Amino acid sequence: MKGIVFTEFLEMVEEKFSYEVVDYIIESSELKSKGIYTSVGTYEYDEMLQLVTNLSKKTNSEVPFLLKTFGKYIFSTFHKSYPAFFNRCGDAFTFLESIDKHIHVEVKKLYDDARLPVFQTTRIDDSNFEMIYTSERKMSDFAEGLIEESMSYYKTDFSMNKVMLKPDGSQVKFMITQK
Ligand code: HEM
Repeated sequence: MKGIVFTEFLEMVEEKFSYEVVDYIIESSELKSKGIYTSVGTYEYDEMLQLVTNLSKKTNSEVPFLLKTFGKYIFSTFHKSYPAFFNRCGDAFTFLESIDKHIHVEVKKLYDDARLPVFQTTRIDDSNFEMIYTSERKMSDFAEGLIEESMSYYKTDFSMNKVMLKPDGSQVKFMITQK
């Protein structure tokens, strides 16, 4: 997993909780990196799992809630770092389609070792959109936070339903209705 995900995660923990909590989750995890991350480095996905699990224990918050909160948090970082990806799309559904077709393709060119999810998108009609998330990292809650922020960014009122297509969370369908 790319370092930017770790540096942003720890920044969020410091902002929403405290530096003490950052220190605690690093100390209570067994990290090959020792908790020292650079944004362009690559680290084991297991380190993220340990950090989130320990944050969950420390703060009495559920892991899915923390991952969704993190997805919402990282949206603004992506927006600041890569404004062009947003400017080229005029509406939320076009933007969501562009993640798999364009954004993550560019991310992969930039970082060959990035491990990205697959999104299959379908426009049902003008106001209904489906997006199937597939990834062995099972981070659909993180995706949910990013999708919600994307809808808000394009000032689109919406409702969203989530269906587990695989019980382990490696494939999840998001059904989004624009109001
Ligand atoms: C400009 C916008 C975006 C950029 C630059 C970007 C970039 C990245 C990067 C660098 C990673 C980490 C890859 C790794 O650790 O190896 C990642 C992971 C991920 N991205 Fe994006 N992303 C963007 C937008 C989105 C959006 C809007 C979604 C919403 C669904 C999304 C969903 C995900 C998910 C779920 C992962 C976690 C990996 C997994 O589940 O397999 N991304 N993205």
